[in-house]
Amino acid sequence: MSTPYILVLYYSRHGSTEEMARQIARGIEQGGLEARIRTVPPVSTECEAVAPEIPEEGALYATLDDLKDCAGLALGSPTRFGNMAAPLKYFLDGTSSLWLTGGLVGKPAAVFTSTASLHGGQETTQLSMLLPLLHHGMLITGIPYSEPALLETLGGGTPYGASHFAGADGKRRLDEHEITLCRALGKRLAEVALKLES
Ligand SMILES: Cc1cc2nc3c(=O)[nH]c(=O)nc-3n(C[C@H](O)[C@H](O)[C@H](O)COP(=O)(O)O)c2cc1C
Repeated sequence: MSTPYILVLYYSRHGSTEEMARQIARGIEQGGLEARIRTVPPVSTECEAVAPEIPEEGALYATLDDLKDCAGLALGSPTRFGNMAAPLKYFLDGTSSLWLTGGLVGKPAAVFTSTASLHGGQETTQLSMLLPLLHHGMLITGIPYSEPALLETLGGGTPYGASHFAGADGKRRLDEHEITLCRALGKRLAEVALKLES
């Protein structure tokens, strides 16, 4: 049996969601659990296209076992037309075996997203990501308003999960409030997972 960990599973094309994943991982570690960061390969309209087994840079690709054995899950995606990105949806669509066995039932989960525009669909993306997690029977943890940054933020951060406003050129870095809320979400997830495990 490996050490309990929270899986931080994300897709990122230009790095903003990836940076959020790192901040959430720090929060998870502050909350007392190990964070296992994993990504998914891009999908292609060419069915024959196959990604290398190990990505050239960044986190390793997630396996079903990473998901099956986790104590909790933080799921992250860039916003694509107000929804999660196809590569992440593709990975989730391959998790029927876990649904059939109830492998994720009762585990805590949280979501995070990055957008180019401030009102470009952070909440809709977060809600779209929660749907498959609810079907899997996971317990959703958001961000409570007892986190002062949720009321003070002029960028990302919602009660449904962590978010980041990356700007039209994708170059806006995570600001202080967005970092605080990423870490708070990760910490909360780890604390809930530890309570559920005991
Ligand atoms: C096909 C496509 C659709 C997008 N749709 C939206 C959108 O609906 N709202 C928005 O604000 N940004 C949208 N974006 C911008 C990305 O969400 C934004 O650049 C995000 O920060 C990228 O995250 P990443 O750096 O992790 O890849 C879209 C980008 C692409 C490529």
